[in-house]
Amino acid sequence: MTKTDTPASSVLDRVLVLEMVRVTEAAAIGASKLIGRGDEKAADHAAVEAMRAALNELAMDGTVVIGEGERDEAPMLFIGEKVGSAQGTGPKIDIALDPLEGTTITAKAGPNALAVLAVAEEGNLLNAPDVYMDKLAVGPGYPEGIIDLAKTPTENVQAVAAAKGVEPSEIIVCVLDRPRHADLIAELRGLGCGVVLIGDGDVAGVIAVTNPDTTIDLYMGSGGAPEGVLAAAALRCVGGQFNGRLLFRNDDERARARKWGIEDLNKIYTRDELAKGDCIFAATGVTDGSLLKGVKRMKDGLITTQSVVMRASTGTVRWVSGEHRNKS
Ligand code: FBP
Repeated sequence: MTKTDTPASSVLDRVLVLEMVRVTEAAAIGASKLIGRGDEKAADHAAVEAMRAALNELAMDGTVVIGEGERDEAPMLFIGEKVGSAQGTGPKIDIALDPLEGTTITAKAGPNALAVLAVAEEGNLLNAPDVYMDKLAVGPGYPEGIIDLAKTPTENVQAVAAAKGVEPSEIIVCVLDRPRHADLIAELRGLGCGVVLIGDGDVAGVIAVTNPDTTIDLYMGSGGAPEGVLAAAALRCVGGQFNGRLLFRNDDERARARKWGIEDLNKIYTRDELAKGDCIFAATGVTDGSLLKGVKRMKDGLITTQSVVMRASTGTVRWVSGEHRNKS
C-alpha cells in the first residue's frame, strides 16, 4: 500500500493529533507579542508566519483550503498553498486555518482571540470563499433539526425553549455586535431573551453554545464564512448543530463562490456539509476567553499557553497546558 492509499480512517492518525496543537501554539505565541499594541496587521502577520513555519514541519501533503485569502491577496497561507514536509508522499490533508481569529481583539487586548486550525481528509471541508455567512448554532442534546436557518429567529428560539422546557425569555443568544444585527437583536430582546453581544470572534462565539458554563443556548447572526467552517468542524467533534448560508454582497463575491465549486448559492449547509468525515479541530488562546486562557509571558522567559484539540471520529477532547522556554 502506498502512503496515499492509506485507509481514510487512519489518514489523520498519521498527522498526530497533538502536532496540531504545536501549530496553533506557535501562532498564538507569535501573536501574543502584539497583544494590546494596537497593530492588527502586525499581530496577524506574526501569527501567520509562525503557523506556516510550524505546518511546514509536519510530515504531510497538506493543502490550505481556507486560509488568509486568495493567492494574489495573501503572500502566506493563501488558499491552495501546499504545506507540510511530505509533498507527494505523505497523507493528503485539507487544512482550514485562521492563525489569528480576532485581530482587532488582539490589538485591543480584548477577550476570546484564538489561533485556530481544522484538518480533514482531502475534500472534506467546504472550500468557503471569503464572504459572509449567516450562522445559527445550538449546543448538544437537542433533537436533530431543532434549529433551521430557513425559519425566523423567533421560531428558532421558541423551538429550543420548548425542547429545553423553559420560556423563550430564558434563552440566551450570542450575537456579534454589529449594526447589521440591529433587527435581530431587537427581535430577540422583544422575546425577552438575554443577548450576549461580542465585539469579534464568532468561532469562540459559536463554540460557546457547547459549554454550559457560558449559559449561551444559541448563536445567531452573520460573520465570516471561513470562520463558519472552522466552527462547524469544532461542533462536529463536540456535538451541537450548525446551519450556515453564504451571503453575497455583489456579483464578484458570487463569482468567487462559483470558482470554488459552489453551485447553489442559497443553500443552507448543515454542520456535516461544512465539515465531513473525520476531522481534527485545534485552538490555542491568544487572549483570555470563555474557551481558553490566553498566552501569558511570565518572568525569566517562561511562556504559558492553553489549547484544546478535538477529533470527530473519536469525540476525544484534550485540553493542553503548555510551558514554553527558550522561545521569543
Ligand atoms: P478577524 O480576526 O479576521 O478580524 O475576524 C474577526 C471576526 O469577528 C470573525 O470572528 C467574524 O467572523 C468576522 O470578524 C465578522 O466580520 P465583520 O467584522 O466584518 O462583521
